[in-house]
Amino acid sequence: LPESRLYQSNDKSPLQIFVRAKKKINDIYGEIEEYVHETTTFINALHAEAEIVDKAERELFESYVHKVAGIREVLQRDHMKVAFFGRTSNGKSSVINAMLREKILPSGIGHTTNCFCQVEGSNGGEAYLMKEGSDEKLNVVNIKQLANALCQEKLCESSLVRIFWPRERCSLLRDDVVFVDSPGVDVSANLDDWIDNHCLNADVFVLVLNAESTMTRAEKQFFHTVSQKLSKPNIFILNNRWDASANEPECQESVKSQHTERCIDFLTKELKVSNEKEAAERVFFVSARETLQARIEEAKGNPPHMGAIAEGFQIRYFEFQDFERKFEECISQSAVKTKFQQHSSRGKSVSGDMKKMLDDIYERITIFRNLKQDQKNLLTERIQGTETQMMQVTREMKMKIHNMVEEVEEKVSKALNE
Ligand code: GTP
Ligand code: MG
Repeated sequence: LPESRLYQSNDKSPLQIFVRAKKKINDIYGEIEEYVHETTTFINALHAEAEIVDKAERELFESYVHKVAGIREVLQRDHMKVAFFGRTSNGKSSVINAMLREKILPSGIGHTTNCFCQVEGSNGGEAYLMKEGSDEKLNVVNIKQLANALCQEKLCESSLVRIFWPRERCSLLRDDVVFVDSPGVDVSANLDDWIDNHCLNADVFVLVLNAESTMTRAEKQFFHTVSQKLSKPNIFILNNRWDASANEPECQESVKSQHTERCIDFLTKELKVSNEKEAAERVFFVSARETLQARIEEAKGNPPHMGAIAEGFQIRYFEFQDFERKFEECISQSAVKTKFQQHSSRGKSVSGDMKKMLDDIYERITIFRNLKQDQKNLLTERIQGTETQMMQVTREMKMKIHNMVEEVEEKVSKALNE
């Protein structure tokens, strides 16, 4: 997409709720950090000058500096995370690619994705891979090379490969959405590990089903475990490959209502994660492959329907966009709540603790100042006393001298007279 169009669509995106909240909380923490630094300098000076604060208090204050810096670091890394699950070949990787508007993740028939793949935005236009437990950046020149690199990796299926893709290539990546692709839920016996390692901090889950068949036990079981470990996870259900229904128009509506009913029942009655109304807004009928093709055509400047696979493209394309809109609303609100609420309460407790400490110190300073004032007053009183005393003495001396002079004068004149 041309840059200008990306910015346009980006400004209206519900993801901006998260983006703006992140900026705001970052700014606030920036101010808190400045304040903590200033106060620490002040406190250290107090210690050096008058020993009003002791070593333990200074150390406690230093710990606030580290705490605030730690929170700022986490904040910088905070993002919105969406994880995709479903049976092999249902189109999980294709859905992510359609959302990214580019074929980034390998997709194909058979068992393609063999470990967890996380796609996130990178700065500076760089594309690279990072394997779990290593800081090494493996440069990716093009998508084909990326696909090869992923296929060649003999990685454990629950390990994670991070794919860094230039932010400016996709507005979702720029707005801090991180995508997690998984191997099919039917190929693993380690579903618990998957959940513990990759799902606990996900804001949204997308269950990608194959609209040509029905939800399997493995898929259901996986989400049962997720909803036991997380309270009310946000789950969207995509009935993918809906383009296939165009071949059988006579049963399209009945299949659709059957799938819809099953999906809604699963979310409401089985998992109990949402009510009927919410659940109805979480179930979609799409074609990921077609959407991706349409978007690739759009990027070339062609009309999107050039990517159509079957009759009814427009409806499926709108439905995909509708899914994206609802997904964006849901993920940004959920991420603001789960991520920033925690930071703001921690921030409140740090600033509350600091305020209490400063109040204590202020009280001590006031006592100290009063003490000094008292000492000063006492000294002044003494000086004043001495002054009066001296004046008294001087006055007395003067009188004495005066009297003496008078006496001498008197004596002298008396003597002269005699
Ligand atoms: P694994 O990684 O193996 O678990 O599969 P996956 O769920 O990631 O599926 P993938 O995206 O690799 O898609 C499997 C095959 O289905 C690919 O050949 C896709 O092109 C095709 N496919 C995906 N989505 C659709 C769709 O909506 N319609 C059609 N007709 N084909 C699709
Ligand atoms: Mg895949």
